[in-house]
Amino acid sequence: MDIRLLHPSDIPHVQQTNITNLPENYFCKYYMYHALSWPQLSYVAVDVSRPKKSPYDAPKIVGYVLAKMEEDPIDGVQHGHITSLSVMRTHRRLGLAEKLMRQSQRAMFETYKAVYVSLHVRVSNIAALALYRDTLGFTVGGTEAKYYADGEDAYSMRMDLDYLR
Ligand code: ACO
Repeated sequence: MDIRLLHPSDIPHVQQTNITNLPENYFCKYYMYHALSWPQLSYVAVDVSRPKKSPYDAPKIVGYVLAKMEEDPIDGVQHGHITSLSVMRTHRRLGLAEKLMRQSQRAMFETYKAVYVSLHVRVSNIAALALYRDTLGFTVGGTEAKYYADGEDAYSMRMDLDYLR
């Protein structure tokens, strides 16, 4: 498995992965906005074990992290934000999400001097909560009521990037 930066040409495949794994979906231009504004922060996991039949073969994208810098942080502190993360069911529990997150966090810190990284996650999302809290070290800052379109609450989480110093 190869973890590399997201290229604009990956976007249709990332979009497909997102639609397969999550109910929060975005227009192509929103992916493009991330890729062009903060090209260092979003990554894809590519299954390179499948032989390419032709140079035009699409890459097999099995996971991604879509990330950005907060443009007008209300607290005035430079920080990154994870917009979306997912890994295909066939490729879960291989450590891909952890690697994608760590790469993005490092790039936020090194490229933009991000002090911390934030995200939202459904309160019922046991797998993602375990990843963020237990594996990566995020903490819950609060709960945002009815954050999602279907009325579910979100935990607002964050993690200081000091450990990268
Ligand atoms: N149950 C409990 N703990 C889990 C689970 C699970 N199903 N999945 C991961 N974890 C925890 C474990 O501690 C795991 O370490 P271990 O395997 O050594 O026990 C650790 O997280 C690292 O797991 P990874 O293998 O890196 O995680 P994976 O690549 O499987 O991806 C993810 C995890 C992204 C949550 C995946 O299950 C997924 O795509 N789910 C659907 C989409 C989703 O919920 N995305 C997050 C939404 S929030 C947002 O986008 C900001």
